[in-house]
Amino acid sequence: MVPQTDKEDKFIVRGGRPLTGEIKLAGAKNAATKMLVASLLTDEECVFENFPQIGDAEVAKELCITLGSEIKSIDSHLVIRTPKIKTTRVVSLHRKNRIPILALGPLLSRMGEAEVPVVGGDKIGPRPVDMHLESLKSLGAEIEIGSEYYKAKVSGKLRGANISLKYPSVGATEQIILASVLAEGKTMIVNSAVEPEITDLIKLLQKMGAIIEVGTNRTITVYGVEKLHGARHTVLPDRNEAVSFACLAVATNGRIMVKGAEQEHLITFLNNLRRIGGEYEVTEDGILFWRARPLTGIKLETDTHPGFMTDWQQPFLIMLTQAAGESAIHETVYEDRFGYTKDLNLMGADIKVLKTCIGELPCRFKDKDYPHSAVIHGPTPLYGMALTVPDLRAGIAHVIAALIAEGESEISGVHEIDRGYEKIVERLSFLGADIKRVSN
Ligand code: EPU
Repeated sequence: MVPQTDKEDKFIVRGGRPLTGEIKLAGAKNAATKMLVASLLTDEECVFENFPQIGDAEVAKELCITLGSEIKSIDSHLVIRTPKIKTTRVVSLHRKNRIPILALGPLLSRMGEAEVPVVGGDKIGPRPVDMHLESLKSLGAEIEIGSEYYKAKVSGKLRGANISLKYPSVGATEQIILASVLAEGKTMIVNSAVEPEITDLIKLLQKMGAIIEVGTNRTITVYGVEKLHGARHTVLPDRNEAVSFACLAVATNGRIMVKGAEQEHLITFLNNLRRIGGEYEVTEDGILFWRARPLTGIKLETDTHPGFMTDWQQPFLIMLTQAAGESAIHETVYEDRFGYTKDLNLMGADIKVLKTCIGELPCRFKDKDYPHSAVIHGPTPLYGMALTVPDLRAGIAHVIAALIAEGESEISGVHEIDRGYEKIVERLSFLGADIKRVSN
């Protein structure tokens, strides 16, 4: 088990050193947590390797144990089996993260009814779940929405349907896949998300006996099967960790070998890193990152895969505070994901957040008054200070900022970082970072 992080834990960071050395990626948070939910679709054993030891995985484990799973884990090896669903009602885990809602499909398939708590997760905008619930209705479920729960039931089996998503949502795509693998007939998802974590979930489900086709143009077709069985699977490496460590290397002007980093999952990131003056070498073991020249500004827009991922903009922005000239980031996935820049300005950065679209991509937030663009002027020296982590990715950005800042920073709210980064203090210390965890 992961040691529970105390909500009061803080990181004390002294910046100013280039970080160098090797760091090995953990398994992807945004795949592993969903794979535990997928294992609920069978009464047989599933075995996972490279399973990350992070806070969000603990929430997913607690969810499964509540529902009847038996879990054994040693380090990154995890075995889960759910011989019987003990209850269809999860009343704990309110607003903890976004995983419990994904249990609706497996519970409907095995038991015909389900109740899960309302979702939580990062404080990065409203994050509705309308597409999840509408999709389940299309598959034949009746849905009741309470202030603290979602209830679903189906008479007989869920039935395949054609579902066209208004936006390629990662969670809604996973919801439909998990609900339709054991449904009657064929389900077609049009405008689906195609993130590498979804492909990895599909690979696991195939091993469990599912039939899922990934077509061109964001179309996924699931052919319902009668039964799924156990499987063994190695969780793909976490590309968000990879980007965070790459930005750390370039921001601190160090040299970091990110073991396990997959070029295929990082193509857009690598192009933009090179454009600003970062450099990399792809090897058998992973990718080596460093700064090749003084950094220069860039214009970026976040997008769904294979675009520039929204979870990369925060560590990337820290590099841009050290880049000469003007940079701009247009966030098109979440309407309010620049809140963390306030603290960076207090550290010495020059970042303006705007409500206008400052890019070319079609944007759902156009003319809607959302603070979803940022203009950065650099380079600016940063100075250490007391920071409070607002959410996971902003949290790692704060850590990187503190590591390039002059002086000491005290970072509170670090349980947010522990949700998604495994043993971060130990691993960064190994690269030469002056960082320690203080528990009250
Ligand atoms: N959306 C809706 N209705 C829905 C679902 C989504 O309007 O029913 C909107 C969201 O509000 C957002 C957009 O669609 O504006 C994209 O949301 P999506 O469903 O794709 O995201 P998610 O499944 O909630 C996952 C990751 C996020 C990552 C996004 C985008 C997990 C647990 N979370 O969220 O990761 O940013 O996909 O790639 O997989 C993180 O790891 O720090 C994190 C926030």
